[in-house]
Amino acid sequence: MSSTPRNILVTGAGGGMCRGINARLAGAGHTIVCVDLDAQSSETAAKTIREAGGKAFSFAADVADEASVGNLLTDVTATVGPVQALVNAAGILDRKYLADSTAESFRRALDVNLVGPFNLIKAFSPAMIEGGWGRIINIASIAGVTGYPYPSYAASKAGLVNLTRSLLEDFWGTGITVNSICPGVVDTPMVIQEVRDQVRRRVPTQTIIEPAEIGAMIAFLLTDEARNINGADLLVDGGATRLFSLFNNHAD
Ligand SMILES: NC(=O)c1ccc[n+]([C@@H]2O[C@H](COP(=O)([O-])OP(=O)(O)OC[C@H]3O[C@@H](n4cnc5c(N)ncnc54)[C@H](O)[C@@H]3O)[C@@H](O)[C@H]2O)c1
Repeated sequence: MSSTPRNILVTGAGGGMCRGINARLAGAGHTIVCVDLDAQSSETAAKTIREAGGKAFSFAADVADEASVGNLLTDVTATVGPVQALVNAAGILDRKYLADSTAESFRRALDVNLVGPFNLIKAFSPAMIEGGWGRIINIASIAGVTGYPYPSYAASKAGLVNLTRSLLEDFWGTGITVNSICPGVVDTPMVIQEVRDQVRRRVPTQTIIEPAEIGAMIAFLLTDEARNINGADLLVDGGATRLFSLFNNHAD
């Protein structure tokens, strides 16, 4: 599996899942444009890639803030040049049930998890259209496919899955594909121990997903052989969402 080296912008690049994504994509020869709200963790991610022999740049931006994303576009274009692929991985999980949620906390989750990818796609897709090739990959979640106890997270990720499908018309004939990946439980600090403990009983493969597995899926989407995977919602969840749980004898 080979692909032409590209400039790949990864948001949330300082996070747990991006450890696996950055390493896999840099290892395939791509230049990683690391973006995170936290400048220090963005630079640490880029430094890790460079120390392993890869190519990386770091930038700080708030994906939820249109002006911040506008400045990011200016800075990245001036320093790195046009980006050919976008991995929207920045996200927040606010563990609040309805009773503890406020309109403000609900809106913040939508702003980061849904408006954030929208802002990045708006800003960075014109250069992809101009270049005649592009990949947009949105990291949603199985929480956006099924219901989930924390409504702000579930609603934002469901929105992201459907935003993905709804962009097919915009990118018709442009050489750009747009897909979402819905991971199950990935081995990152975002996942609490209680959920890790449930994997053996509730996931058919009985395994927690490694960040590198998500990286491998993205690396494939970046190849020309993946040019017809478009508008898909790619589940990487060990089968967790495909088993009707009423008949799941292993749940308890
Ligand atoms: N960990 C899992 O099991 C899991 C499962 C399914 C989906 N996801 C999704 O995968 C993505 C990565 O998850 P993770 O586990 O690495 O989470 P993480 O919390 O480790 O990383 C998220 C990163 O996003 C950054 N970020 C947060 N708000 C931002 C903003 N406004 N602008 C820019 N950056 C911002 C954070 O600083 C952090 O570095 C998220 O979108 C998450 O919802 C995670």
